[in-house]
Amino acid sequence: MNQYINENKDRFLSELLDLLRIPSVSADSKFAGDVRKAAEFICQKLSDAGADLAEICETAGHPIVFGQKIIDPALPTVLVYGHYDVQPADPYELWDSPPFEPVVKDEKIFARGACDDKGQVYMHIKAFETMVATNSLSCNVKFMIEGEEEVGSDNLGIFVSANKEKLAADVVLISDTAIIANDIPSIDVGLRGLSYLEVEVTAANRDLHSGVYGGAVANPINVLSKMIASLHDEDNRITIPNFYADVVELTPEERAAMALTPFSLDAYKEDLGIDEVVGEKGYTTLERASIRPTLDANGIWGGYIGEGAKTVLPSKAFAKISMRLVPNQKSEVITDLFTKHLQAIAPAGVTVKVRPHHGGEPYVTPIDSKEYRAAERAMEEAFGKKPVPTRGGGSIPIVALFEKELGLKTILMGFGLDSDAIHSPNEHYGLFNFYKGIETIPLFFKYYSETN
Ligand code: BES
Ligand code: MN
Ligand code: MN
Repeated sequence: MNQYINENKDRFLSELLDLLRIPSVSADSKFAGDVRKAAEFICQKLSDAGADLAEICETAGHPIVFGQKIIDPALPTVLVYGHYDVQPADPYELWDSPPFEPVVKDEKIFARGACDDKGQVYMHIKAFETMVATNSLSCNVKFMIEGEEEVGSDNLGIFVSANKEKLAADVVLISDTAIIANDIPSIDVGLRGLSYLEVEVTAANRDLHSGVYGGAVANPINVLSKMIASLHDEDNRITIPNFYADVVELTPEERAAMALTPFSLDAYKEDLGIDEVVGEKGYTTLERASIRPTLDANGIWGGYIGEGAKTVLPSKAFAKISMRLVPNQKSEVITDLFTKHLQAIAPAGVTVKVRPHHGGEPYVTPIDSKEYRAAERAMEEAFGKKPVPTRGGGSIPIVALFEKELGLKTILMGFGLDSDAIHSPNEHYGLFNFYKGIETIPLFFKYYSETN
């Protein structure tokens, strides 16, 4: 098997580079044609790799690619999920090379989507090709690769609920997360949920001269800034009433286990160029970024931001705000609490509108299951070290739905690194990680089929 990977490694890479050249940005409708092209590319490669069925499934938004190879109905079925859509590459000027013209430099592939998630999806397609070509596929396999993960997976949710039979499987396998380091393998056993909203504050019915009206009429930018600032107290706890009501606190034993996760605060600060970390009082950096809920402004705008200065008292100000959620918070409940609280703290002289964007529920995987053990054995064999279970801070909205709608547990066997700059300029993915993934995935199939 490793011989096949070795003999074909250059082709595997050059195919991935072809995929990375397609700017499949799901958030921006001007890329809709490219999003479809990426779906067609994935579909073709699944079929070339040996899928019996590979098809494009239309949705109200971007298409879903579905593929499968059923070798024996008596064998277990692995449902591989991933996404071929990517985050916008803006700001383009901060990239050292253009985001959709992939280059390999210092043993890393630089491009938007290199790690999140095209590079990791492509490992699965090439691992599948390898298993088929070497006659070692030991499970049935289904692929569901979507094009709307980065915008909340709403249409995938509908697709999953409507296609339970088609998606019937025994476990979901996803590579869309990170390991601690190339010599410290880990498996994510948790994802945070998400509530994402947009806030609009309106004062006067039009933009005004800031000299003529300033000081006498509310300034929506000032008001919005103050409202956002008030959402954390001096201990960096979120001030929305009942926000923490459903949060599951970890036991002292669980926190002690987490504290053993290899982590260097100095290296963390140095990597980010910060002199101090900031977060909720009473929790470590690792805890703040995984098992605790958060609230962050992701964007704020209003008034004049062009060249030079314009004296204006704007009519409106806007912000995009996300909250990361942990068990047992519910996205809908939090969205509602946020909306009510913003209305409640809106001062006289402005109106506040809150619009929900998208959400997702948190998820935690058990580590005493046969699927976790199969992933653990696969990683241990490939890396020569037992993987550490970690709780991830990001969100993959569909994972909680896999459990609710399909009754399936998910294994988050990702191969990225936190330093891969996903969602940032100069996103990259290590060649080591790409090939290590292709080597590890067949081992998961092998050990999973043996334990069933
Ligand atoms: N792959 C990430 C999620 C992730 C990254 C999980 C790193 C764990 C570690 C995924 O593509 C992502 O970015 N999800 C979004 C959610 C979405 C609704 C926009 C996120 O977490 O912001
Ligand atoms: Mn992703
Ligand atoms: Mn992402």
